[in-house]
Amino acid sequence: MLAIIGGSGLTRLAILESHHRRVVRTPYGEPSGALVFGRLRGRDVVFLPRHGHAHTIPPHQVNYRANIWALREQKVSGVVSVASVGGIRADLGPGVLVVPHQLIDYTHGRRGTFFEGPDQPVTHVDFTEPYSPKLRASLLAAATAAGQPVVDGAVYACTQGPRLETAAEIERLARDGADLVGMTGMPEAVLARELGLQYAAIAVVANHAAGRGDSAHAISLEAIGAVLDTAMQRVHDILEQCVECHQT
Ligand code: HPA
Repeated sequence: MLAIIGGSGLTRLAILESHHRRVVRTPYGEPSGALVFGRLRGRDVVFLPRHGHAHTIPPHQVNYRANIWALREQKVSGVVSVASVGGIRADLGPGVLVVPHQLIDYTHGRRGTFFEGPDQPVTHVDFTEPYSPKLRASLLAAATAAGQPVVDGAVYACTQGPRLETAAEIERLARDGADLVGMTGMPEAVLARELGLQYAAIAVVANHAAGRGDSAHAISLEAIGAVLDTAMQRVHDILEQCVECHQT
């Protein structure tokens, strides 16, 4: 069974058939909300809205450990993250869908490991490739099958939020080699890795990052809503194909 974590613009997975919710507790506290179990194209999936069912949890307060732990407890084979981002690279403008292959973590103060506490051995997981190549390949194949263009590969920068970045911060991220900027990719990705879960993301470009393109002087929040509404329909098509083509 695949898990889908929905971000801004995807708090509800309307395409889920015959769904029911289940509240799950974890040693790390409460996940962002009840898990939603249902079927997509006849296959079981579990959906979790990262910011809560009412979109009330900001990126720095998401209980990433509880979310990933709760999904692992459902014996999921992989986790597909849907996340809205700002585009730094000129060709990654509003509405573009991207399957990133690398990330840089600029967050701070988030609980970023399961391996801490008196009874936990010090553990260093390999994170050279932060996204599962297999699940990325499934997403790319799903996009092709759905006839939805996606960009294969990009470097995702994860900032702390919840504020958007300054133009100078985006310049710095670009110099660091980042193509996209979002606020929720970490520590979600590494926590999945620590529990041995396949993890990959579909990034939905909501806006040009601060200082770029039509965000040269400000980012229009009104425009973001409209972009996400349209793009999420395309994400739905890809997710439907992905649950069909992803074999564990
Ligand atoms: N920056 C960070 N996160 C984002 C942005 C952005 O410009 N757009 C959507 N999520």
